[in-house]
Amino acid sequence: MKTQIEADGQRENSTPRIVIITGANSGIGRAAAMQFARAGHTVIMACRSPQRAEPVRREIVDTTGNRAVSIMEVDMSSRDSVRAFASEFTARYPRLDVLIHNAAYLSHGDTWRVSPDGIEIAFATNVAGPFLLTHLLLDWLQRSEDARILHAGSNIIKHYFNPKTELDLTTLREEPVGQRPAPVYHRYRRSKIALLMLTFVMARKLEPLGVTVNCLEINGARMSPETLAKMTLPYRIIGRIQNIFFRPPEYMANSYVQITTADRFRGVTGHNFNDKQEPMKPGSSDGTPLKQQLNNVFGTTHYPDFADNSELQETVWTACQESTGLASAVV
Ligand SMILES: NC(=O)c1ccc[n+]([C@@H]2O[C@H](COP(=O)([O-])OP(=O)(O)OC[C@H]3O[C@@H](n4cnc5c(N)ncnc54)[C@H](OP(=O)(O)O)[C@@H]3O)[C@@H](O)[C@H]2O)c1
Repeated sequence: MKTQIEADGQRENSTPRIVIITGANSGIGRAAAMQFARAGHTVIMACRSPQRAEPVRREIVDTTGNRAVSIMEVDMSSRDSVRAFASEFTARYPRLDVLIHNAAYLSHGDTWRVSPDGIEIAFATNVAGPFLLTHLLLDWLQRSEDARILHAGSNIIKHYFNPKTELDLTTLREEPVGQRPAPVYHRYRRSKIALLMLTFVMARKLEPLGVTVNCLEINGARMSPETLAKMTLPYRIIGRIQNIFFRPPEYMANSYVQITTADRFRGVTGHNFNDKQEPMKPGSSDGTPLKQQLNNVFGTTHYPDFADNSELQETVWTACQESTGLASAVV
């Protein structure tokens, strides 16, 4: 029987769900795991280090009294690891209701790095891994009456309001030559615009299957000392300053819970939501060029319509297929 509970001033549907959250051992993923557990859902913390995740799992179980919280190991940048995770999950659970692709490589300032499969690490972790895992769990998602996928986006995509910014996916296997080595920050923003495009394509393809796919544009959540420690000094300093203004991770985690469980989002698909859980619109807001510019940088109502370019969306889809070896993707 469905009951309604109040959560942070909003109504959520408390029908028990089976929920996977990648990267649930820290930051927003950790806060979300706590909130889903508190609401009585079954939570699978999909983490690359069971050692780092276990104290968090224990804390969640002790705090919420919900024992249905488990850890399953996965390295989202590795095809073999994602495949092993999917096999184990499907052997252990009868269906999947909620899949939250929260994990991300965001070691800003890091230099060129590739995944175990030789793919640029930010794209491999933040885009190709989610693409592969979603495909491998598609049958299990279709066993749910109300399957929802959520991608953790970023307001870093605002760079794509600049018409000079391009999406170059030809350099996923080799470091671009003849250019100043770009820090991973640039590749991170490429991965997040690609993830938004993937959201739109995936939503269209999965709609007939009854699976919704949305993105949440995260515009800042306080970063943990561990996350800051992964960044080089200049980015760490910027991160510490940003943390003064950022909200705690629980705030964004609440949007994860709402978008993937609340009745008002049932059947809603193909959106980029802002932190108020409102669908953002493509393009710039109305007004003078100055007002538009300011809104592009500071606003939360619009995303660059760059992401709506269907040719580029196809390029992202193809890059995902090539990076994962899923040449004939199921959908
Ligand atoms: N915080 C912000 O201001 C902000 C802004 C915009 C977008 N976002 C997005 O929000 C999401 C959560 O960020 P956060 O701030 O909560 O960061 P976080 O605390 O650093 O969490 C990231 C998580 O991803 C995991 N991870 C990284 N690489 C992985 C891999 N290959 N396989 C499996 N897990 C992996 C990390 O695990 P380890 O502990 O093992 O490293 C960690 O648990 C990310 O998608 C991020 O891009 C955050």
